[in-house]
Formats: sequence, structure tokens, C-alpha cells
Amino acid sequence: MTDFPPLKNDLILRAALGKKTERAPVWFMRQAGRYLPEFRAVREKYDFFTICRTPELAKLVTLQPIERYDGLLDASIIFSDILVVPQALGLVVEMLPGQGPYFPDPLVVPQDIDNKLRKHVNVYEELGYVFEAITVTRKALNGRMPLIGFVGGPWTLMGYMIEGGGSSTLAKAKTWLFRYPEESKRLLQRITDVCIDFLIGQIKAGAQMIQVFESWGGELSPYDFNIFSLPYLTQIADKVKTQLKQEGIEPVPMTIFCKGSWYALESLSNIGYDTISLDWTIDPAYAKAITKGKVTLQGNMDPTVLFGDHEQIRTTVRRMLEAFGTGEKYIVNLGHGILPTSDPENVKVFLEAVHKVGLELDNK
Ligand code: CP3
Repeated sequence: MTDFPPLKNDLILRAALGKKTERAPVWFMRQAGRYLPEFRAVREKYDFFTICRTPELAKLVTLQPIERYDGLLDASIIFSDILVVPQALGLVVEMLPGQGPYFPDPLVVPQDIDNKLRKHVNVYEELGYVFEAITVTRKALNGRMPLIGFVGGPWTLMGYMIEGGGSSTLAKAKTWLFRYPEESKRLLQRITDVCIDFLIGQIKAGAQMIQVFESWGGELSPYDFNIFSLPYLTQIADKVKTQLKQEGIEPVPMTIFCKGSWYALESLSNIGYDTISLDWTIDPAYAKAITKGKVTLQGNMDPTVLFGDHEQIRTTVRRMLEAFGTGEKYIVNLGHGILPTSDPENVKVFLEAVHKVGLELDNK
């Protein structure tokens, strides 16, 4: 493995492993993105997936929030997308400006699993550019903070591969679950296998923490979640950790973000993830009671609070930190990705408040 500069800020790793921290670490989902004018300037010149596929560009935009909010962020997340996995499986995915992802030729019938997808995916061939981006970005971070790698949850990826893009009902993907349950499981397994190899590759390339984004978890009933999502999320945590150990590589902390799956909190705290990332609909006290200190909690400010005034942002941060507690098993984040219309100045107010309130509460 590559030699990397020593880590100067390991707050988030300690928090994820349940160790005491002087202050709750903070980062936020989509911290490199369109709310930043410097990101929009790069986006004007390059297509979204060109940025993902060009390690120097991925590094440049990953570092943009780190540099703008100098000293205020405790983690960086590699610039990429969950949809690089469907691409690796053989589907074409485009990012349409203002509309989001678009698959010109999605999966329609179960035979498409064999007809449209690669039988075997070599992640080093198909996704080597992500590994390279991780390695150069971690070097450029120069130990300022850990670098997070990520993957989409298998059910969310299956959803995109069948819907062909965003969807409000997931009617097509859910039709598969109820009309072709066995074929759906076969597809979920194919996706899971790639996710596992992809995460192991990211860790070997230098990712110091991992997050799994099951963004469409909450679209399933608790019963169906237990059939079509949970077993695959379990496999990912299990196999990534086991395989790394077998190869003599230290596993890294893993986070699961299942948006909308409040009903699954207890199950999620028992399947091998170190941290559970919460959306804003979950009350901190409820989450703490259900997870009983078994995992670290991450989250969960409603991203639209950033549209409020500075005082409102500070009050919400204080309430959140008081509820979660700052010194142990807690990582500050938003409850979902930051919205593109957020004001970068308000983000600074949010980050400064996390630092200030966190230290105050810890010294009480
Ligand atoms: O968090 C980060 O800063 C790292 C980069 C990152 C992106 N996407 C960049 C991105 C991460 C972690 C993701 C994850 C992702 N991508 C998820 C899971 C998290 C979530 O939001 O639920 C999902 C569902 C996707 C798929 C995706 N990519 C959608 C639905 C969209 C369009 C919606 C939108 O926000 O525009 C994208 C595009 C995307 N991914 C952008 C960025 C910065 C904006 C695209 C652009 O620049 O045109």
C-alpha cells in the first residue's frame, strides 16, 4: 500500500470507533457540490462524470470545501457518485444538468440482468479511476483529516438501474420486487458483489472510512426492507471486514445511511456498521434509546435549516448537540445532502457553531 502523510486530525475515526473526542467531529454530505461557486466554475468546463473519471479534477473539487472552510471540517469525502457502480456493471448513465441522472437503456425485464450487464466486473479495470482519485486526494490532504470513500446501497442502485433515473414512486423497481422476487434478489446479489470489491479497492487505495448510501431504504415497508435491503447491507459490512482481515489489512470504520428507514434503526445497529447516519426525521433521544450505545450516531440537521438566518442555524446546532451529546459516539452532519441553493456563508455559520457549542458543552 502507498505511504501516506501522518494523520493530524483523527477525531472522526475515534468518534466512529466509540472513543472519546474533545469535540464532536463534523462534515456534511455533498460538501463538494453546486452550492459552491468554485465547483460550478469547474462544472461549466467539464461534464459531471468527466470530473469523476479524472483523478486530478476529482481531487480539485474534493478539496474545495476543505480549503474554503479551512480548519472547520473534520473529514473529506471523495468526489464521485453512487452511479459509477451501474456504469461498471455495463449500463450507460448520463448526468443531465438540472435534471439529474439518466439511463438511456435501463433494465426493463429480468432477462436484462444477463443481456445488459457484464457477467464479471473487474473493479480495478472499470473503477480504477476512483482508486487513483482516492490515492492522489489523500496525499494532497496531507493528513489534515481522513478521507471517506463510499458506495450506494444495493437496493438504491437497483432502483436507479430499473427506473432509469429519479422517481417519486419507484413503481417500476418495486414491480420487480413483487413480480420477480427471485430475479430481484439475483440482481441485488450481483450489485452487492461489485459493491464489496469496490469498497475493498477504495480502502486499499487509501480511504480511511466508508459510507454506504441506501438513499431509497425508506421507500420499502419494514417487511420488504428486511428482504430486499438489510441482508445485502449486512453482507457488505461483513464481507468487507472479513476479506480485509484475511488479507492482513486493518478494516476501517463503516457508516450506513438508510434514508427514511427509521423503523430499521435497531436492526442496523446489529449488522456490523460502526456508525449510523440519521436523517432529520429521527429524534436524537429516540435514536439513542433504540441503538443503546452500540453504534456511533451521525447527523442529522435538516439541510433546509441552512436557509434560515444565522441565529436560527446556531440555535438548531445547539439543540442538536445537546440532544446527541458531544464527546462520544457522535458525528455532526446534515440529515441528507446539502441543497444546491444553500448559501456558503450560512454553511460557515453552521460549522463555526458546531465548533463553538461543542467546546462549550464539553467544558461544562
Ligand atoms: O458528498 C460529496 O460531496 C461526495 C460526492 C457525492 C455526489 N453524489 C456528488 C454529486 C456523493 C457522496 C453522492 C452520492 C449520491 N449520488 C447519492 C446518495 C446520497 C443521496 O443524496 O441520497 C445518490 C442518490 C446519488 C445519485 C445522484 N447523483 C443524483 C440523484 C443526482 C442528481 C441530484 C442532484 O443533487 O443534482 C446526482 C448528481 C450529483 N452527485 C451532483 C453531485 C455534486 C450534482 C450534479 C451536477 O454537478 O450536475
